[in-house]
Amino acid sequence: MNDVSSAPHRPAAGARLLARLACSALLAFGAVQAQTAGPDLRERLAACAACHGERGEGVAGSTYYPHLAGKPAGYLIEQLQAFRDGRRHYWQMVWLTQYMDDAYIAEIAAYYAAQPPHTQAADVGAPALPAAVRERAEQLVHHGDAQAGLPACVACHGATLTGLEPAVPALVGLPQDYIVSQIGSWRDGTRRSKAPDCMAKIAAALSPADIRIVAQYLSHQSPGAHDEPAAAGSLMPPLACGDLPHAQVTP
Ligand code: HEC
Ligand code: HEC
Repeated sequence: MNDVSSAPHRPAAGARLLARLACSALLAFGAVQAQTAGPDLRERLAACAACHGERGEGVAGSTYYPHLAGKPAGYLIEQLQAFRDGRRHYWQMVWLTQYMDDAYIAEIAAYYAAQPPHTQAADVGAPALPAAVRERAEQLVHHGDAQAGLPACVACHGATLTGLEPAVPALVGLPQDYIVSQIGSWRDGTRRSKAPDCMAKIAAALSPADIRIVAQYLSHQSPGAHDEPAAAGSLMPPLACGDLPHAQVTP
């Protein structure tokens, strides 16, 4: 399982069970056709709680589902639109977002962005990383790999890896398999972000072995007191990304 080509694009058994449990909620949700903003938001978002937690804090024991709480609203809007518009492919999410209009998506994003950030270590039960693995991961995350053309993850995800407003999510607190799967999806083109797609370039510059190492490392990290994403404009990304200012003019 060190090869990214065998990265799970589906949740593991525990997550699949949760998915089945969520099914009735999903059906109830899907029955509403045109989905627009309205006062009953909390009620409607009950359908999301089985997989993402009541306030987007994530579900205990999940090896795949990402948390949503405290992620920048701009990032969440982009993801919901991406599922709806075919830039991300995960059938439950595609199905749930297919009739959402932009106003409703913005309302959902604002709700989760306003919740207390949840960026605790995801793989709390997993054994500590061997020193060599940790060192390689720390090198990549904090300094990048100049030879491979890879900038440091902290250059955009923030010094504490808790994200950057308005469009970069936290990396700490995400399950290892989810991270591996997302980077694999950028590599094979099944996840596409707003152009210019800097994460597609980052994913291409990471070797399969390094992807697994970085994911393992990130899923073990706890951010301490710095849960909030860094303020907009406080970092100047080394590569151009849609929605973010960039240090250099790009062709
Ligand atoms: C059956 C389980 C399930 C349900 C129910 C569900 N989600 Fe998801 N959601 C997922 C999974 C799994 C992913 C990651 C998919 C992937 O691999 O791209 C995801 C991803 C997301 C993301 C992107 C997160 C990120 O960090 O990029 C957002 C936003 C989201 N869901 C919002 C919602 C909302 C809003 C609802 C309710 C309307 C909902 N989800 C219901 C399973 C679910
Ligand atoms: C040049 C800026 C930049 C750098 C450097 C960068 N990222 Fe990102 N990253 C982004 C942006 C922007 C997004 C949001 C993409 C989107 O909207 O889909 C993102 C999203 C992600 C996600 C998706 C998280 C989720 O919840 O779905 C992962 C995983 C990720 N980055 C990993 C990394 C890793 C690992 C590194 C270092 C090897 C890194 N990134 C370096 C800008 C960057």
